[in-house]
Amino acid sequence: MDYAIETAPLETLQCDCLIVGVFQERQLSASASAINSTTQGLINKILSRGDISGKNGETVLINAIPDSSIERILLVGLGENKPLSGKNFRKALLAAINSLKKTQIKSVVCSLAECDVIACDRQWKTRQIVEVFNDAVYQFTVYKSDKETDSKVEKISITAPATELESAQTGLAQGRAIAEGINLTKLLADLPGNICTPSYLAGQALELGKKYPSLDISILEEADMEKLGMGALLSVSRGSRQPAKLITLNYQGGEKNSKPIVLIGKGLTFDAGGISLKQAPGMDEMKYDMCGGATVLGTLLAAAQMQLPLNIIGLIPSSENMPDGDANKPGDILTSMSGKTIEVLNTDAEGRLLLCDTLTYAERFNPDVVIDMATLTGACLVALGRVPSGLLGNNDALCNDLLAAAETANDSLWRLPLWEEYQELLKSNFADLANVGGKDAGTITAACFLSQFAENYHWAHLDIAGTAWRTGQTKGATGRPVPLLSQYLINRAHG
Ligand code: BES
Ligand code: MN
Ligand code: ZN
Repeated sequence: MDYAIETAPLETLQCDCLIVGVFQERQLSASASAINSTTQGLINKILSRGDISGKNGETVLINAIPDSSIERILLVGLGENKPLSGKNFRKALLAAINSLKKTQIKSVVCSLAECDVIACDRQWKTRQIVEVFNDAVYQFTVYKSDKETDSKVEKISITAPATELESAQTGLAQGRAIAEGINLTKLLADLPGNICTPSYLAGQALELGKKYPSLDISILEEADMEKLGMGALLSVSRGSRQPAKLITLNYQGGEKNSKPIVLIGKGLTFDAGGISLKQAPGMDEMKYDMCGGATVLGTLLAAAQMQLPLNIIGLIPSSENMPDGDANKPGDILTSMSGKTIEVLNTDAEGRLLLCDTLTYAERFNPDVVIDMATLTGACLVALGRVPSGLLGNNDALCNDLLAAAETANDSLWRLPLWEEYQELLKSNFADLANVGGKDAGTITAACFLSQFAENYHWAHLDIAGTAWRTGQTKGATGRPVPLLSQYLINRAHG
């Protein structure tokens, strides 16, 4: 998809479709009003027929415009004639792009960035148009014989007055970068486990490094991890024919001595549960257990494309979790890189085994902060459903920064407590700690486990089990939390 800013007056434009907003009670937005005058009152005529009342999310496509170089006009309801909430703005955008699907429309001009949105500037609005449109037209067609997509849209021009050109351009550039990051994250996530193995993910990271010279990629093999004493991580891949990889992405956009932001993503390319085998229904969705890792790749792509003046390290521990003669067994005791011993009471709690050694490994980068993201617990779905990702951490300032970024990016988070009392649940009779904490508070006890390996720096954990993909009829990756992390990095770059 090609995105651009358009500063020319509406009546001089040439396109397959112009998107304009209308409010309730037949009130016109500025662009609707302008186009109404140049079309002898066409918009008012359509509104007076009553087919669209102006409620947020309603749409009417006017399919022929007499004597105009604009072929069609899409009217989009914006709701009451007052500043919109950010959510309602996005809702109107989504309705607009969805109603262009299954038409032959290729070139679109969108005037909706002119809307007043509460506490949001031109930059944010322009970026949201790119992000929402990009999200809506994504379709995973890699393995379909017929690769035709519902949307035929190829070019979207976003209008801006010359006086606001600069912030529109910045919003456009950010939107493009984040959209591209999200597309990579979704594509990798939607790929099946037989294609997207740990080695494939490592290969994709190397490709990304070729495309963005500011990204340095290195891959640790099992022999390297053995030398580092990563007994927890390596125990998971022992049950799989696919060798584990620890992928490092190093982005040095900041000053040489400035401490890096470390992003860690769980890269389980398929989680069968191991000897504590999962039940069959829905097990295919465990190909998505690498969404944390895919998020790290997508976010570093976006950061590199935006050339953010920050130092960022991405770490992706990647493995499969399979049942096998050499797999972890319940009761096995492992020695992690930190020296702490772990009793494996459930081999399906494998994500924390990968992450704990990666958290220890992160210390060598002398991090400013460490943020990990993982499809870690089914319990997170029970607690929070599929709306926010879970947030837990050992530093309030970092958690608050993430909550603020989540709000701006419309990629929500909800913080859960990480109190001392919960740590009790991880006690083991035979080792320093157990890898599961029983049936209560599963998301919290998982984070408690991780916290014991993140004591030496400011750390936050995102449990994305409910948000990284959709289940059911519209099954597919969401690309979350790339928007939130990109926003956090943008905020850090300007802070
Ligand atoms: N990858 C799963 C978590 C998961 C399950 C995410 C379902 C999304 C949907 C993780 O490795 C896992 O299996 N966790 C166990 C932990 C339990 C054994 C303490 C779980 O949630 O059941
Ligand atoms: Mn598991
Ligand atoms: Zn898992």
